[in-house]
Amino acid sequence: MCGISGIAGSKNIGVPLLESIKHLEYRGYDSCGVAIMTPYHIEVRKNIGYVDEVNEREKLSEPQGEIGIAHTRWATHGGVTKENTHPHLSCNKDFAVVHNGIISNYMEIKKWLIGEGHKFHSETDTEVIVHLIEKYFPASKDVENAFVMAIKQLEGTYAIAMITTNEKDKIFCAKRESPLVIGLGDGANYIGSDFNAFIDYTKNAVVLDDDEYAVILRDRYFIKNTFSGDIVRKKITQINWDSDMAKKGGYPHYMLKEIYEQPQCVINAMQVDKGLIRKLSEMIMESNRVYLIGAGTTYYVSLFSEYNFSSIAGIFTPAISSDEFKNLGEVDKDSLVIAISQSGETYDTLNALKFAKSRGAKTSAIVNVMGSSIARFADHTIMQGSGPEICVISTKAALSQMIILLMVALEVGVINKKLTIKNKNEIERNISMLPELIQKILNEKSGFIHTIAYKFSHINNWLYLGRGKYYPIALESSLKMKEVAYIHAEGMPAGFLKHGTIALIDEKLYSIIFMPPKSNEELYNLSLGSAEEIKARKGFIIGFHFGEKGGVERLFNEEIILPKAQEVIAPFLELVVAQLFAYFTAVALKRNIDKPRSLAKSVTVA
Ligand code: G6P
Repeated sequence: MCGISGIAGSKNIGVPLLESIKHLEYRGYDSCGVAIMTPYHIEVRKNIGYVDEVNEREKLSEPQGEIGIAHTRWATHGGVTKENTHPHLSCNKDFAVVHNGIISNYMEIKKWLIGEGHKFHSETDTEVIVHLIEKYFPASKDVENAFVMAIKQLEGTYAIAMITTNEKDKIFCAKRESPLVIGLGDGANYIGSDFNAFIDYTKNAVVLDDDEYAVILRDRYFIKNTFSGDIVRKKITQINWDSDMAKKGGYPHYMLKEIYEQPQCVINAMQVDKGLIRKLSEMIMESNRVYLIGAGTTYYVSLFSEYNFSSIAGIFTPAISSDEFKNLGEVDKDSLVIAISQSGETYDTLNALKFAKSRGAKTSAIVNVMGSSIARFADHTIMQGSGPEICVISTKAALSQMIILLMVALEVGVINKKLTIKNKNEIERNISMLPELIQKILNEKSGFIHTIAYKFSHINNWLYLGRGKYYPIALESSLKMKEVAYIHAEGMPAGFLKHGTIALIDEKLYSIIFMPPKSNEELYNLSLGSAEEIKARKGFIIGFHFGEKGGVERLFNEEIILPKAQEVIAPFLELVVAQLFAYFTAVALKRNIDKPRSLAKSVTVA
């Protein structure tokens, strides 16, 4: 799980190459490096640390050259050391390679190559690639031929880029199950793990498919099928993100910027092509079984949506964490699997979709990144249009996914005769109030949430409790706290508390209760009941609620009062508060907000 990039240009590429891995850093950030073709040799500069830190020490953009490749790493094979950092060089230093993915048969190749006299300098799986190319080159003296021979021998997943002193004007790259896109610029062509690598320079891109390779020069390129050798012609994709959307725009962190973008994201989500919503709704109605799958945050998006499909559409759509899907999902040709993924690259989710397809099931996806693997693999894809989400922790993308699935649930509700068109229109009107209410929270509550978060930033254990739809909101909120602040927060159904966890409660255990509006009287009273259970054991409670009197003021030690809202949108408001609470706690604890330790934006390994 890493970011790779490359530039074939006509002037010095040091600075744009460095920028490209800065833009990909969210994919992995424990070490990074560049390989630049100077007039004399391939100059590799690399080290461990964030891109800025490494650049400070190694001056990554200093080497003079017009062709180069770069990498930002999230270690899988081999620890975080300078030796394991990409790019890797061949023994004669004529070839340099960067790679994202996992070469599963690297051990046997490595043994063989060592027997053939190759010297390895790292513990990575990647290094075998560059030695293999070096091994095959002398026979034909044809770089493309040696590159393809090496690629064909690899098992596993890869996006690879290679430069060589033997053909100094070319980048060779290949893809299988790890993303790779080509950017077509003016006087320069680019490659990257995604569009962010070159979005400052061009909006024209070509997406590589599995088992294709490409040769990139500054003024042209070609793509071939790795196995047949046939030329592949592709359509040029226009990227509809601009580079400003991917910049911080005055916010101290991307996470805060992205939380603040949510009013607009809701509007975008509501404007998703009605034809696509309709199509997915029909697919749901035509299927015997429907599953919602996702990983981490998107699993919680699935769980939240499962509640909406049950209550609004009268259809049970179990949510399954995609890593468990093969163990649990019973699929055949009458099933539909709906995958939710911000990046569109999460291995577990893609793998679950592949499994579903192999059993004949239909597949659909809700994805934020155009041209991503999941977006292209599913039979039916809805692009969520949330704009680039750079912070590793998902906020705006998740909220948008919840809205889109809610729109689908409404459509299914009508087809399934659980809702009249009038009901649906009324609920949609309520949803359209959401951007304004989120804005109100951002404007009026941020300061208060900041204060509360600082006040309680020393607390190491939280319970996050909710009932009904507020249960997945509690789970997702607790994940934010874990991911960004490294604080233990356990989300659970408030009703589950009394079945065991209650034994933990004393004055040292802090809880947050996600209250529904009082209009849902039964859920409201049950949630208050859970608060009573905690209070009776001297537990400390922060209540998120909608300002209704009658019990809450007595039970909660602290409260965050939200603007009055209809039931259908109330959970989203609580989620926004919880995002801010996690964010400010992390700021108070001086955490690395946009790139938390051990996490990466798209986890492309099993
Ligand atoms: C990684 C990230 C999580 C994210 C999950 C799913 O594990 O660290 O924050 O929720 O992937 O990502 P996706 O891109 O599929 O939504």
